[in-house]
Amino acid sequence: MKSRILRAPEGTSNGGASEPATLTTVPTVGAHASAPMGPIKIAARDVSVFYGDKQALFDVSLDIPDKTVTALIGPSGCGKSTFLRTMNRMNDTIPGTRVTGRIEMDGGDINDRKIDPVLLRAQVGMVFQKPNPFPKSIYENVAYGPKIHGLASTKGEMDEIVQKSLKRAGLWDEVADRLHSPGTGLSGGQQQRLVIARAIAVEPEVILMDEPCSALDPIATAKIEELIDELRERYCIVIVTHSMAQAARVSQRTAFFHMGKLVETGDTEEIFTNPRERRTLDYITGRFG
Ligand SMILES: Nc1ncnc2c1ncn2[C@@H]1O[C@H](COP(=O)(O)OP(=O)(O)O)[C@@H](O)[C@H]1O
Ligand SMILES: [Mg+2]
Repeated sequence: MKSRILRAPEGTSNGGASEPATLTTVPTVGAHASAPMGPIKIAARDVSVFYGDKQALFDVSLDIPDKTVTALIGPSGCGKSTFLRTMNRMNDTIPGTRVTGRIEMDGGDINDRKIDPVLLRAQVGMVFQKPNPFPKSIYENVAYGPKIHGLASTKGEMDEIVQKSLKRAGLWDEVADRLHSPGTGLSGGQQQRLVIARAIAVEPEVILMDEPCSALDPIATAKIEELIDELRERYCIVIVTHSMAQAARVSQRTAFFHMGKLVETGDTEEIFTNPRERRTLDYITGRFG
């Protein structure tokens, strides 16, 4: 249903805080680095973003494969969040922002006038640095999206969506007996998984994550990383991270940004062991951050 909306054949294109890089050795690439990748899900071409007169992104072209975790890395202020937001038109919500270039999802232009950004954002879900559950029950947090998008016609169907989403987000076992308690009463790591369940509930195809672990302790972080690896089998995932160790652990593809430009992209293993660009090497070995 939602995919068809994005497959408009033609259209007009209109178109955080960082931990210091202290690594002195290249992070170890995870065991999942060489997992098979799906076909190209999102294709960005010559994407530039302006905040008023200030240009924050310069002609970024990047292919993002399906069923893959793509990590966006680079020093603070290099444009990672800005680029992430172009993929679900979140920049549209920031006054004075202008996006040029073309972003295709499954071959359709996401900036086409026929695309409803609200539907797009259900299809391309987003998870932020700070978990942001609604001030509602755990159940209501997950049921909210399916309700507005009319995905369930009975209470039983809604219960099923809520359960399935919480299971997929690895949270069900911890909350099954308190679905009607406030979501904000959960721990930080649980809240982040709740927000992921909320994104999953509306059947997205892409999940964008902007430093999803930076507010979490190491144990909660490990859980989210494990979850990301499971979600990869079903979704196209793009994660912004200031932790190069995390990028090396969870992603199969890495894109390195510097000063608003995409410097280099490739298989994570390649980027972390044999980068083509000097700037990439300097960044991943902690020479600047
Ligand atoms: N809403 C905004 N208004 C003006 N400038 C912004 C805004 N958001 C980000 N910027 C600027 O755009 C550049 C890229 O920022 P951002 O995408 O947040 O970088 P990163 O996520 O890599 O830290 C920075 O120079 C930042 O100051
Ligand atoms: Mg950012």
